[in-house]
Amino acid sequence: MRILLLMHSFNSLSQRLYVELQRDGHELSVEFDIHDDVTREAVELFRPDLVLAPFLKHAIPASVWQRLPCLIVHPGPPGDRGPAALDWAILHGADSWGVTVLQAEAAMDAGPVWASEEFAMRPVRKSSLYRNEVTEAAVSAVRRAIARREAGERPAAPGGATHGWQPPLRQAQRAIDWQRDDSTTVLRKLHAADGFPGVEDMLFERRFRLFDGHREEHLAGRPGTLIARCHGAICRATRDGAVWIGQLQPVEDRQCGFKRPATLALGSLAENLPISEDNPAATRSDTSLREIRYKEHGNIGYLHFDFYNGAMSTAQCERLRAAYLQARRRPTRVIVLMGGGDFWSNGMHLHCIEAAESPADASWDNINAIDDLARDILTTDTHLTIAALQGNAAAGGVFLALAADLVLARSGVVLNPHYRNMGNLYGSEYWTYVLPRRTGAERARMLMAGRLPIGAPEAQALGLIDGYAGPDMAAFHALVASRAAALASNETHAPALADKRARHARDEHAHPLADYRAVELEHMRLNFYGFDPSYHVARYRFVHRTPQAWTPLYLARHRQLGRTTRSATTCA
Ligand code: COA
Repeated sequence: MRILLLMHSFNSLSQRLYVELQRDGHELSVEFDIHDDVTREAVELFRPDLVLAPFLKHAIPASVWQRLPCLIVHPGPPGDRGPAALDWAILHGADSWGVTVLQAEAAMDAGPVWASEEFAMRPVRKSSLYRNEVTEAAVSAVRRAIARREAGERPAAPGGATHGWQPPLRQAQRAIDWQRDDSTTVLRKLHAADGFPGVEDMLFERRFRLFDGHREEHLAGRPGTLIARCHGAICRATRDGAVWIGQLQPVEDRQCGFKRPATLALGSLAENLPISEDNPAATRSDTSLREIRYKEHGNIGYLHFDFYNGAMSTAQCERLRAAYLQARRRPTRVIVLMGGGDFWSNGMHLHCIEAAESPADASWDNINAIDDLARDILTTDTHLTIAALQGNAAAGGVFLALAADLVLARSGVVLNPHYRNMGNLYGSEYWTYVLPRRTGAERARMLMAGRLPIGAPEAQALGLIDGYAGPDMAAFHALVASRAAALASNETHAPALADKRARHARDEHAHPLADYRAVELEHMRLNFYGFDPSYHVARYRFVHRTPQAWTPLYLARHRQLGRTTRSATTCA
């Protein structure tokens, strides 16, 4: 089928559908929902069999949905309607929720239903549900909807009166009552608003939006007071304990009104808060604040690093590197780099960079901090290493993963192995070494220039990763455990380590690692300090969520010059 993907932005769900539908053999093109005229023009140019809308902020024009089947992906079960479906589900404490693929009609989310999927809820951030359960359910519901459409079936009448229309949530409905709400209630409110729009609140007589809530297991204080800080996060007492808040977005600051680590947003105001010690190896539940965790199972060390949105600031890279070096000193045989549940890594922390006095200097420090970590992984000769991608990775995050000896991914993971979308950034993380050594020079060039997301099966076919399993986390963890055990076994470990050392020596002799880095950083220096401001402009637009003004040509294939559209074919 020719499918036009119409969306507000090419977000993780849209990217996942793109790679899955492409794998199914459909012909795809993308348009952002910038204006009704643009949508109509895209339909004219591409002449799709259907329009699929995974993430919309504007209604599809009637002239389009009256002419063509337009399928909307709604993150709610059949009958649920409205723009805050997941937010309400979390606030109401729903045990299960769903995704529905319905046909666009005049009333929002009220059209006939092509397919739906149900999933069990987890007590996590809305964005985490969206990137995992909602995405998996959406993929299978969309596939089923397309198959039904291809088979000439009709959609079912909208039913399920259990939910119905749920209005947008106002900040007043999200507000936390610090005197009355217990930690569970506070976390539920935070989770329901994370990553967007956050829960508005006052701190030091300033208005902020709060994100990234975690339960604190030991500290307590007078309800509502700030009682500690740990790295970027602050801890606030509730009626029955306390919660950590990792990210703040200043509401009244027009220049810097984007989210970033809480202590960075508060500046000197947070300085007097008592520091809570952090130890990656300490035992704590997985829901407490713990960006970096280290666990051992036999002779395998598992290093988890769950950074908010996968973004890694200079300080986070340095802490992760310290934890990695600590893991290397352990009498284990294999180190597994687990990343986080939602993201493995998205490279440099663009929000922290944007907030810095000199974004150029901050970029330089950040890329060097990631490079130091990548170098230490690459040159590890005491252990075999595995990058286990439970979640997505992009830009420098992908190439950091390639520093490991073995790269495994959950089957639903989407990778963006390129930098150019960030203002033609050249990139570092030793990509000029780790990418071609896996894929060969031609494929490396194609991936970098293509700027497109790829799925785990495609990444394996290209040689970018060594294996994948899924769709659920348990299946992936089983693969990681079995591959780690095989590498740690008496038969494999010593010979594999000897091979690795010999290969390092050969590669180092042929072309020292330091030279790859020096050349990459020369390009990066130009990106950061040179005449062309593209990287700074792109980062500003990314961090400030500037609305898209057009769809890039690498996505809007119907707009590529010389491309044969269906109308052109018909005319010929
Ligand atoms: N630094 C800071 N924040 C980042 C980030 C980064 N490197 N990468 C992603 N994020 C944040 C986004 O700002 C967004 O924040 P929000 O919670 O306020 O919405 C959130 O992560 C989700 O990203 P978004 O783009 O909305 O959705 P996604 O899950 O579909 O991510 C990516 C797609 C990863 C391809 C896209 O975010 C991206 O291009 N990131 C930048 C990668 C990069 O260029 N890194 C620097 C070079 S090493």
